[in-house]
Amino acid sequence: MPDILLSARNLVKSYSLRSHNDTPVLRGVSLEVARGEFLALMGPSGAGKSTLLHLLGLLDAPNSGYTEFDIDKQIYDSRSLTSKSADFVRNKHIGFIFQFHHLLPEFTVLENVMTPALIAGLPVSEAKSRAKELLESTGLSHRAEHKPAEISGGEQQRAAIARALINEPALIIADEPTGNLDSANAAAILGIIAQLRDRRDLTFIVATHSTEVAALANRVVMMRDGMI
Ligand SMILES: Nc1ncnc2c1ncn2[C@@H]1O[C@H](COP(=O)(O)OP(=O)(O)OP(=O)(O)O)[C@@H](O)[C@H]1O
Ligand SMILES: [Mg+2]
Repeated sequence: MPDILLSARNLVKSYSLRSHNDTPVLRGVSLEVARGEFLALMGPSGAGKSTLLHLLGLLDAPNSGYTEFDIDKQIYDSRSLTSKSADFVRNKHIGFIFQFHHLLPEFTVLENVMTPALIAGLPVSEAKSRAKELLESTGLSHRAEHKPAEISGGEQQRAAIARALINEPALIIADEPTGNLDSANAAAILGIIAQLRDRRDLTFIVATHSTEVAALANRVVMMRDGMI
């Protein structure tokens, strides 16, 4: 039996638009992700990949269906999570990497990377030393005191990866992490992702159009028209 970290059952999601009938975006998606697995989600634009990642990451709620996490000997079921415990699961156990980095512009790179650790209640000194280590391992030590606007797109994305890792999450959810980068920067991010893949304690779900990213995966799931 594989050790399942995350199961999604019959996820249905539609968006209501005033001018249209409800358009179904996910039409009953079920998925199991094993601990330590590197899963790539592929499929045409509009297939529902980002929508699915949002539901898996508890960033949005389905119309029906549910997700269940088995983390740290605890079961978290999306149907019975309070918004406070969903916040806890997201902050402590899930790291997010998006196509656009969403770094906070007023803060330095170091402060951005530290922020999730401070939210989790880590002492400042410990958050800082972890953040410095992560900046070292993503090759960004020399940019620690810069603001996001003062570094390149590839560096911004590396900072976002460092930030996603600081609370030592069980799961990384990445949505087109190389989608906004030129090929040299995309290759650098790919190298970092390849290292993360080899960490058995980390589960990785990535939506991507990149065959290079998908080539790193243990399993590729194809989505089309809101189905797998
Ligand atoms: N907030 C929203 N309101 C209404 N419709 C939405 C919303 N978000 C997504 N959609 C629709 O849901 C469908 C799936 O979108 P989604 O972003 O999940 O696709 P995707 O597979 O990630 O595509 P891409 O590869 O372009 O990122 C699309 O038809 C999109 O227009
Ligand atoms: Mg998308």
